[in-house]
Amino acid sequence: MHEAAPVNPWVALAYLIAGVCFILALRGLSSPATSRRGNRLGMVGMGIAVLTTIFTHLPLQEVTVFAPAADYTYWMQLTLIDSVTFAEILAAIAIGAVIGLTTAKRIAMTAMPQLVAAFHSLVGLAAVLVGVAAYLNPQAFGISSMVIPMIGQPFAVINPVSKVEMGLGVAIGAITFSGSVIAFLKLNGSMSGKPILLPGRHVINLATLAAILFLVAQFAHGQEGWPFWAVVVLSFAIGFLLIIPIGGADMPVVVSMLNSYSGWAAAAMGFTLGNTAMIVTGALVGSSGAILSYIMCRAMNRSFISVIAGGFGATDSGGGGAAATDRPWKRGSAEDAAFLMQQAEQVIIVPGYGMAVAQAQHALREMGDKLKEHGVRVKYAIHPVAGRMPGHMNVLLAEANVPYDDVFELEDINSEFAQTDVAFVIGANDVTNPAAKTDKTSPIYGMPVLDVEKAKTVLFIKRSMGGVGYAGVDNEVFYRDNTMMLLADAKKMVEEIVKAMD
Ligand code: TAP
Repeated sequence: MHEAAPVNPWVALAYLIAGVCFILALRGLSSPATSRRGNRLGMVGMGIAVLTTIFTHLPLQEVTVFAPAADYTYWMQLTLIDSVTFAEILAAIAIGAVIGLTTAKRIAMTAMPQLVAAFHSLVGLAAVLVGVAAYLNPQAFGISSMVIPMIGQPFAVINPVSKVEMGLGVAIGAITFSGSVIAFLKLNGSMSGKPILLPGRHVINLATLAAILFLVAQFAHGQEGWPFWAVVVLSFAIGFLLIIPIGGADMPVVVSMLNSYSGWAAAAMGFTLGNTAMIVTGALVGSSGAILSYIMCRAMNRSFISVIAGGFGATDSGGGGAAATDRPWKRGSAEDAAFLMQQAEQVIIVPGYGMAVAQAQHALREMGDKLKEHGVRVKYAIHPVAGRMPGHMNVLLAEANVPYDDVFELEDINSEFAQTDVAFVIGANDVTNPAAKTDKTSPIYGMPVLDVEKAKTVLFIKRSMGGVGYAGVDNEVFYRDNTMMLLADAKKMVEEIVKAMD
C-alpha cells in the first residue's frame, strides 16, 4: 500500500502565508484606493507558492514512475532519470513571464476582456494537462494509490476518491478551456457575437453533463482508462456548446463565470495532488468569480440561469440597430458646454465605453480640475456595467488620477441628478437609457440606469446620432428638451471644452 508522504511543516507554513497574501489581495482589490497594494500582495503570494512548489520537488534526478500498460488497465513501475532540470523549469517560467509582460504592456484597455478570457483558457488547459499527467503517472505526483505486486512487475491503482477529484478537475478545466476560447473569439470580434442557437440545445447540454458525471463515476470505480479520456473529450465539447448560444452582451458575465470555473478546476486538482496552496487559491478564485458573476447579473438585471441558458444580446458590440435620427434634437458646441458647466453649481460626469475607446480620461480630469477652479462641485457617477468589464471606468479614472472621493457608485449618486445643473455624459449610452425603466420590450428593460435626464441640462458626447450602445437600442435622452448633443470624438471634444474655458 502506498503511503502519502507527510507534509513538510515549512511547506505548509509557506503555503499558509501565500494563502493569507491572496486573501489580503482580494481585500485590497475591493477599493480603487487599495487596489495597487492588493495586486502587489497577490504577486508576493504567487511568488511564494511557485518557489515553494519548485523547491519542494527538487532535486529531480531519479524518479520512480508508473507508465500505463498498453491497455491502460495498470501501471508498470519504471525508474527513470528525470529529464526536467531546474534550468528547464526556469526557462519555462522566463518564457511565460516574457509573453505575459509583453502582452500586458501592449494590450489596449478596450481589449482587456478578451485578454482575460484568453488567460482563463490557459488556466483551464493547465488543469487538464496536470490531470492527464497525474493520471498517467500517479506515483510521480505523490497521489495516494495502491501498489499491487504482480508476478514480475507491481502495478498501481489510483484510489477512487483521487480519481473522482481528477475526473472533475479535468472536466471543469476542459469546459473552462473551450468555453474561454469561444468567449475570446466573440469578444475579439473574430466570431460573431450573435447567439448560435442549436435546436434542442438544452437537452443536448443536460445529456452531455449527465454523461460526464456518469463517466467520472465509471472511471472512479472501474479499472479501464477509456472513461477518463471520454470525460476529457466530452468536456471540451460541452464547453463549446455552453458558450456558443450566449450573445455578446452577456459575454463579460460569462468570462467572470469561466474565471470561477477555472478556480474550481484548480481546487479540484489541488485535492488530487494534495497541494493546499492550489486548493486555497482555487477556492478563492472560484468563489470570487461566482460572486462577481452574480453582482454583474444583478447590475444588468439578468438572472444567472438565463445567462447560462443563453440567447440574449443578438447584436455585436457597438453595432446593430440604428437610432431614429429623424426626430428633432439639439446640437451644441464645445463653447456652449464650457459656458454651461462653468455656470453650474454641480456637474455630474457619467463616463462610459466611448471614453475608454477615445482614451479621454486624462483630458476629462483636466476639465474637472478647471471646473473645480471655478468653484463648481464635480462628481463622477459610475454604473456597475459601464464600459466592457467590471471596474472598467474606475481603472481609467484612477489612471488619470481622478480623486477617489469624487467617484460615486450608482446607488450613492442617482438621487442627486434631480438637484444637479449639468449631467455630462461622455461615451456612455445604455447605462443612461430611461427605456430600461419604462419599455418592457427593450432588451435592457429592468437594468438599473443613471437618471441623467433628471438633471437641468444633459450634455451628451458621442460621435454620431446613428451610433448605438452595446444593446443596440436608441436612447430617448438624445431627443429631450434639456439635452444638448456634442457630436465628436470624446477626447477631441473634451480638449476643445477645456480650451474654451477661461
Ligand atoms: P454603450 O452603451 O456601449 O455606449 C457607448 C457609447 O459610446 C455609444 O453611444 C457610442 O456612440 C459612444 N462612443 C464610442 N466611441 C466613442 C468615441 N471615440 N468618442 C465618443 N463617443 C464614443 O456604453 P455604456 O453606456 O458604457 O454601457 C455599457 C454596455 O455594455 C451596457 O449595455 C452593458 O450592459 C454592456 N456590458 C457591460 C459590461 C461591463 S462588466 N462593463 C458587461 C457586459 C455588458 P457613437 O458610436 O455614436 O460614438
